[in-house]
Amino acid sequence: MEQRLTREQRDQLAKLCAVTFDEPMSAHTVFGVGGPADAFIEVDGVMELKKVMGFAVERRVACTFIGAGSNVLVKDGGIRGIVLRLTGEFKETSVLHAVGDEVFVAAGAAVQMPQLVRWSLEEGFRGLEIMTGVPGVVGGNLMMNAGTRSGSMSDIVDEITILDRELREMTLKAKSLRFEYRKLKLPRTACILRAVIKLRRARPDEEPLKLGELLGKRRATQPTAAQSCGCVFKNPEKVSAGQLIEEAGLKGVRVGQARVSTLHANFIVNEGKASAREILVLIGLIRDRVKQASGIHLEPEVVILGEDR
Ligand code: EPU
Repeated sequence: MEQRLTREQRDQLAKLCAVTFDEPMSAHTVFGVGGPADAFIEVDGVMELKKVMGFAVERRVACTFIGAGSNVLVKDGGIRGIVLRLTGEFKETSVLHAVGDEVFVAAGAAVQMPQLVRWSLEEGFRGLEIMTGVPGVVGGNLMMNAGTRSGSMSDIVDEITILDRELREMTLKAKSLRFEYRKLKLPRTACILRAVIKLRRARPDEEPLKLGELLGKRRATQPTAAQSCGCVFKNPEKVSAGQLIEEAGLKGVRVGQARVSTLHANFIVNEGKASAREILVLIGLIRDRVKQASGIHLEPEVVILGEDR
């Protein structure tokens, strides 16, 4: 178990940067659940990030990064140490250079993926449409190798820049990155700062892509407006977790105010005041029932953070 921030550490941190203490994580996760973080800091730039990370490393205080909070389940006891979220200069996007039809776009880790997809389609670029409907920010999407059935971040990333635990910035080319299904393995990394994404210009004879149409399909099959964490489980090989959960008869099943979506069974929806505990009990129930019904062991895709109350 991680240590709570001491009174002295809180005072020191308050002198270092703008910080809120005992900040409820339910306010920063799309699921709308999660107890308090000892300290919550929104970091505007690399300088400030290094200052806060330096403080934490020196005192062995745990640091947890959250992005848009769209793929996390924070437990009811909250998170010990410091929770950091990148903002400010990490929200910038620019065209770095274009070579022939290829376009290289630099995007900060805090850039919202839905905005980036919209912008790239408006610019007439191709490549990012594979991320249509995926929530979250660039950093989180890279860490999770997020994607859709059309592809994932590993298909379009050219390089990433990270800050390591010795507070050094390092740029890593795509071919040296170890992407797996819904995972990026990064040794000794504090966080991703920005990425370069490789796109191409649409050819004049190509039909323009319509974001509304692309999103429509998603909205018809997933509870996109609900409080959820996206898909709860990874898809096992060759089969959809949603289908297995539906076949186990679990659509609509509730624990307290947590409910298996009636639209897509791999989503759990917080119907208003669910606790993390209720969601975790429902996750356990789904795993047990799917194992009984199909013999298949489901692995969570959602990142579970923090401690029980
Ligand atoms: N299905 C059911 N019941 C359900 C849900 C799905 O029978 O309740 C069936 C569908 O009818 C279809 C098949 O399962 O035949 C696949 O369904 P879908 O196209 O919805 O895709 P998925 O495998 O369930 C994956 C990703 C989603 C992504 C969609 C669309 C994972 C775990 N899920 O879902 O990603 O949005 O494809 O591209 O990889 C996420 O990662 O959080 C996520 C939501």
